[in-house]
Amino acid sequence: MARINDHYLKLKAGYLFPEIGRRVTEFTKANPQAKVIRLGIGDVTRPLAPAVIQAFHQAIDDLGTTENFAGYGPEQGYEWLSQVIIDKSYKPLGVELTTNEIFISDGSKCDCANILDIFALDNVVAIGDPVYPVYNDTNVMVGRTGEADEKGYYKGIVYMPFTADNNFIPDLPKEEVDIIYLCYPNNPTGTVASKEELKKWVDYARANDAVIFFDAAYEAFITTPGIPHSIYEIEGAKECAIEFRSFSKTAGFTGVRCGLVVVPEQLTGTTASGEKYNLNRLWKRRVTTKFNGASYPVQRAAAAVYSDEGWQQTRDIIAYYMKNARIIREGLQAAGVECYGGVDAPYIWLKTPKGMNSWEFFDKLLNECHVVGTPGSGFGPSGEGYFRLSAFGERSNVETAVQRIRNTWGK
Ligand code: MLT
Repeated sequence: MARINDHYLKLKAGYLFPEIGRRVTEFTKANPQAKVIRLGIGDVTRPLAPAVIQAFHQAIDDLGTTENFAGYGPEQGYEWLSQVIIDKSYKPLGVELTTNEIFISDGSKCDCANILDIFALDNVVAIGDPVYPVYNDTNVMVGRTGEADEKGYYKGIVYMPFTADNNFIPDLPKEEVDIIYLCYPNNPTGTVASKEELKKWVDYARANDAVIFFDAAYEAFITTPGIPHSIYEIEGAKECAIEFRSFSKTAGFTGVRCGLVVVPEQLTGTTASGEKYNLNRLWKRRVTTKFNGASYPVQRAAAAVYSDEGWQQTRDIIAYYMKNARIIREGLQAAGVECYGGVDAPYIWLKTPKGMNSWEFFDKLLNECHVVGTPGSGFGPSGEGYFRLSAFGERSNVETAVQRIRNTWGK
């Protein structure tokens, strides 16, 4: 008799974004004439940079020749990619890394989930509320939690509220925790943390032998000088933090799939018998056993992001999205909407109209404005009363959406 993993049954029926997709499909079926604008899931809309496309084509041609054919690559990723990431993305921040510390993958969502493989189940995990649902749900799936209470909080997880009241910077948890998820620039609130604020977490982690999972998927969208792009800009972070990065939003790879994990060589965890054990070594063991590397053309395409032309072209695309973010933020603020984010991140986090919860507002926007966003409560109980709009749309769609929302606001 094949028993299932019962922990899955503790989860809400569906993952957030497919649930939104289901409601939108139902609406469009019933209203085929409606021109629906999708600012829900943070999915990019601009084509890949020309330098990336060129590298992709070249890599495919390589596979068609005996001389340049590539079979299995290194499980951890090609060194030519890791090295260019270090040179172009970490060195300018004053962060020194070796290629041995970088693990190229097929995307950050998988990395955030897979990393749990190398940590014991009895670690106490702290996550934000609201939060990228993957952090919460994957901990439920592996069996680290009990059931959810009526609000949606799972027993065993320490939730740290990210709300306007604390300026979206939670206090250190009162409980002693072993693993802390931080995401800055933050998904879903679009807010950032200063060096001083991150230092507080690094100090806590070092003092408590905890590990920080730092999700920097949106670092390329930071526009404010001085805001850290990497946790390793904070002194001592290499002793206590794993960093996740993604090409999805940075270079439009949501459909291409590529990400990376940094596991510093000096980072350790503790064995059951109380000895220190090297986490880089453990993660490498996991990666070499369960993964055969991101595909060769994808890694070639990713490397092209760091060429001079590729870098400029992807920065231009990011600037396009950030102009969208400004149009949404300023357009809604001018109509009296309370908005956060959208300055250093491609998400605008707005307060729903008085008396309306997140899903009610979702339905109103869909039905009256034909605009899709993401209900804040889908990211956790403290997201109730908020709503997320993504800046990854086409410019004219974004402008139309803002106009439509303004016209309906308060009605
Ligand atoms: C989001 O909309 O939060 C993201 O696109 C989801 C993801 O990156 O997996």
